[in-house]
Amino acid sequence: MHSRELANARPNPESDYAARQHDGEGDGPEGTFFPSSAQVYGKQKIPSKFFMESDSCKRCHEDIYNQWFSSAHHFSSFNNQWYRKSIEYMQDTIGTKPSKWCGGCHDPAVLYAGLMDTPIKQIVHRPEAQAGLGCMMCHSIANVKSTMGQADFYLEYPKLHELAATQNPVARALHDFVIRLNPEPHRRVFLKPFMREQTAEFCSACHKVHLDVPVNHYRWFRGFNEYDNWQASGVSGQGARSFYYPPKPQQCADCHMPAEASKDAGNVNGFVHSHRFPGANTAVPTANEDAPQLKLTEDFLKSGALTVDIFAVSPAQASLKAGATTQSELSTTFAVGEEAESKVRGEAGGEAVPITAPLNRVHPPLRRGDTVRVDVVVRTKKIGHFFPGGTVDAYDTWLELKGTDDKDQTIFWSGMVEDNGHGPVDKGAHFIVLCRSMRTATPSTNGMPGLRARWCT
Ligand code: HEC
Ligand code: HEC
Ligand code: HEC
Ligand code: HEC
Ligand code: HEC
Repeated sequence: MHSRELANARPNPESDYAARQHDGEGDGPEGTFFPSSAQVYGKQKIPSKFFMESDSCKRCHEDIYNQWFSSAHHFSSFNNQWYRKSIEYMQDTIGTKPSKWCGGCHDPAVLYAGLMDTPIKQIVHRPEAQAGLGCMMCHSIANVKSTMGQADFYLEYPKLHELAATQNPVARALHDFVIRLNPEPHRRVFLKPFMREQTAEFCSACHKVHLDVPVNHYRWFRGFNEYDNWQASGVSGQGARSFYYPPKPQQCADCHMPAEASKDAGNVNGFVHSHRFPGANTAVPTANEDAPQLKLTEDFLKSGALTVDIFAVSPAQASLKAGATTQSELSTTFAVGEEAESKVRGEAGGEAVPITAPLNRVHPPLRRGDTVRVDVVVRTKKIGHFFPGGTVDAYDTWLELKGTDDKDQTIFWSGMVEDNGHGPVDKGAHFIVLCRSMRTATPSTNGMPGLRARWCT
């Protein structure tokens, strides 16, 4: 393995909490930021303003600043209503200490300044609580300790920053002059080589979580984890059991920080890595009335990341009989001990069933009164991890399948959202739970001619 590889020194802890306490996640139970694993060199606190001066970078990095301004990273803190409600509820229920775990990834200007001991309701409108993940959050991570997640990194408080952000015009002019004369020290402080060379490991620091006793007063649980299933897939070039490999391995930033033309200081051949971080979050740009970010996210999702094919039709009776109880196993390459062992119940199997497929080439001979089974194939094509990902405990993804007759009247509608799109989702809908990247899942349902399917996320 590459010698610079970040050691997966502490793998997913599965033993009991007491045993692990000796490892001391972060600074251990007595630490200022515990139960977050985050640490600051010199065990110091960092003044809030350090994380709040992204606009001091705007003078020279205007495009990146504007991209970042729209991004989910900017709206990660109490400027995000969903997050704010979660923390208020949590602090009311179990107090402020466990919520420091959340602060390690969501609220740097609050947590690292030592403000998270104050109930957030008292300070929620202060700028510290509205700052989100600014430039300095990511660009001051000096060491990612492992790929355990949980904000398992060291932050460094570079003095250089005080000059960049100074309001004193003379000092500022001097600073700017020095950077232009010799940008090397500026580069070394703000971009550590691992951010470019091991981007996925860098992202894993926040995009992988587990909950443990200090947070839930119960036991160890895996939360979301984009890193391990990326690593185990063909996309990373590191997974041995993938069906397919892309021509070139892809890191998180290859998809989530696409190149955008820019003349910003620091551009590489006229391009910067987009700091808009397109993903799947359409709620935040909608709430912010940020049309360009919303469009970018929708375009990202529709750019061939997933395909849905209404693939085959077969007589319902036959498939019911054959579908008895055979179980097929779908192996995944997800990290051992997690979904690796899960079995997926096959619906069909045993006897052969006459099917008509593929439907884009052959038309099924359907008659009024027929009951048929329709196979819909969902494939994840340009996703480097499970679909859906992220906080899957907090939202649903489902397939919508609508059947109309020759008079365009709806005769079947699975996945309908009641009350004209404002109510609950039809209970019979096919909810999608973890489609493996570069593999297929085949949800199926009964349907009729004139079918249309679309994604709802
Ligand atoms: C006075 C202008 C100026 C200001 C203010 C400034 N930068 Fe820069 N920055 C530059 C220049 C010039 C470069 C390009 C250096 C090069 O390519 O040699 C650069 C490069 C960078 C790089 C890329 C380093 C690399 O190796 O490619 C990062 C990251 C960065 N700056 C972050 C920041 C952050 C964060 C801030 C705000 C705290 C900031 N900069 C403020 C001028 C500035
Ligand atoms: C979520 C973390 C994150 C945040 C927040 C963030 N950056 Fe970056 N930035 C990165 C990463 C990662 C790279 C390197 C990407 C790569 O090379 O694959 C990068 C690269 C850069 C570069 C080098 C040019 C380039 O496009 O590669 C500059 C300059 C920069 N960032 C400035 C900023 C500024 C200014 C802000 C705030 C407005 C900011 N960053 C906020 C993660 C972040
Ligand atoms: C091959 C391209 C690709 C790579 C590589 C990739 N992603 Fe994604 N990612 C996507 C696409 C497309 C989506 C939107 C569909 C979805 O939600 O899965 C997405 C969604 C996400 C989401 C939002 C999840 C949700 O549904 O709310 C996060 C967070 C994310 N990715 C993080 C990462 C991280 C971290 C890595 C690296 C470990 C990574 N991605 C690697 C393509 C990629
Ligand atoms: C300091 C912690 C931190 C780091 C480092 C970090 N992220 Fe994030 N990221 C977050 C948080 C927190 C959110 C969710 C913000 C919100 O919506 O509340 C987020 C959101 C995102 C989203 C939007 C997800 C969606 O549903 O649309 C994407 C994409 C993403 N991050 C990708 C990355 C990538 C790629 C990297 C590495 C280059 C990275 N992040 C590094 C904390 C981090
Ligand atoms: C290890 C880092 C980490 C920790 C700890 C963490 N989160 Fe997150 N959180 C993230 C990332 C990354 C995302 C983005 C995932 C995505 O979009 O798919 C996120 C997304 C969210 C969202 C969805 C925001 C949106 O815009 O839709 C909420 C709400 C949230 N987290 C609340 C919390 C709460 C409450 C806690 C503590 C109990 C917590 N998080 C702890 C990293 C973390």
